[in-house]
Amino acid sequence: MINIAIDGPAGAGKSTIAKAVAKSLRIIYLDTGAMYRATAYFALQNNIAVNDADAVAKMFENFNMDIVYEDGAQQILVNGLNTTPYLREHYMSKAASDISALPVVRYKMVDLQREFAKTHDVVLDGRDIGTFVLPDANCKFFMTATPEERANRRYKELLEKGQEVDYDTLLKDIIQRDYNDSHREVAPLKQADDAVLLDTTNMTIDQVIEAVKKVVEEKVKLEKNEPSGLVPFGKPSSEIPPETMKRIKTYYKSPKGFGLYRFLRVLLRPLQCILWPTKVINKENAFKFEGGLYLCNHYSTFDSLIPIFTMFKKEAHILAKYELFFNPLAGGILHKMGAIPVRRGEADTEAVKAVFRVLKDDKKLLMYPEGTRNKQGTQDMAELKTGAARFAIKMKKPIVAMVYFRPTKTFHKNYLYVGEPFTLEEFYGARTNEEFHEATEVIRRHFDEAREGVNAYVEGLKKKKSKKDKK
Ligand code: DC
Repeated sequence: MINIAIDGPAGAGKSTIAKAVAKSLRIIYLDTGAMYRATAYFALQNNIAVNDADAVAKMFENFNMDIVYEDGAQQILVNGLNTTPYLREHYMSKAASDISALPVVRYKMVDLQREFAKTHDVVLDGRDIGTFVLPDANCKFFMTATPEERANRRYKELLEKGQEVDYDTLLKDIIQRDYNDSHREVAPLKQADDAVLLDTTNMTIDQVIEAVKKVVEEKVKLEKNEPSGLVPFGKPSSEIPPETMKRIKTYYKSPKGFGLYRFLRVLLRPLQCILWPTKVINKENAFKFEGGLYLCNHYSTFDSLIPIFTMFKKEAHILAKYELFFNPLAGGILHKMGAIPVRRGEADTEAVKAVFRVLKDDKKLLMYPEGTRNKQGTQDMAELKTGAARFAIKMKKPIVAMVYFRPTKTFHKNYLYVGEPFTLEEFYGARTNEEFHEATEVIRRHFDEAREGVNAYVEGLKKKKSKKDKK
């Protein structure tokens, strides 16, 4: 499991950074502060004083906390009641700080957090994650900023929300919470010896995210946790033995070599229909052009099969991670199937050349612009990589954005929506990173439209069904 700990005082920007990092790694974010807030909320609701250890211990006799995710957003249920909407009120900060000082509360929350981290890849933010909850976390950060800067950030945030606040009161509260959090008896706020210190006083959010991501990339070998799948990222070439590198030639098969592909495709199509029956919505969009980029959200190995069976009739070209070619038999078959091996962590010029040839020959290329699988299974997509935009612009090729309604489920009806084809014509000739990022934004918008399309379709089906049921 990947566990990333971000600790620090109130208002240091931990949650913004933890959320962004979790999103870009496609893993879950756990806001542990919200757990203390939810506990405090429940106590207040039941007229229990947040500093009365005995009363709170008694409260725990009938107390059940569940952490669930709705559309990727954390929700904390206490005895079945969703407390999330009430936790960010100003008075809750002080109550949470007080209740979190009670050892009985800390032990309870820490147990829950450890259990959660055992079963999830997760970025946790809090006060004691690196020192106490998860001393063996893969990566630890201690994020801080001066109390004045933190008060200032909070001041601006509340003003934006339209709340009347006094800067001096905020500063006083922050100093008081720092004192409470760092002077309590059990697991006080403090930097772990092996945590990376980030003083964000003079840093922008983007700078902090970059700094965190850099450390995470160096320390966490994400590929170990990545089950094999047709995704373009795998081992960095520095870790691939030279003999293997020599054997695996990245090439683009000429169309003559696709006999086996077509044969297997026809043979296995009924199996696909049984195992992963899929309604492809607006399938005609896939055939409005000959060669171009088919971009898709990606949950599992199997979801790459559906475009192969439904859209890539004569030949398929998919970017696949290099390790899938390590086994000579599997690698040979994949080559025959037109897959292009891609190495991670470098500008894989061979793969890029192969992609250019595919597009130059007006063939179809299936790519996952998120660069990896979505392990959360939500509809949210990670930040898109700029590769697809670069290819489409350089080769002046059309794009379709395709969206699965949800992760492919065996023996269940799946839905894949094919968006209207579009080009990035306004960016032809682009050279700068900024332009490629802007073009990628256009792609993202098309994904958003396709997602709305698939949701509306499924919603329509549900309505029809409930009407029928009523009759
Ligand atoms: O991060 P936050 O402001 O939502 O946290 C609320 C309070 O909970 C904070 O004052 C200290 C406490 N807390 C804690 O003691 N340990 C954690 N891991 C997270 C929060």
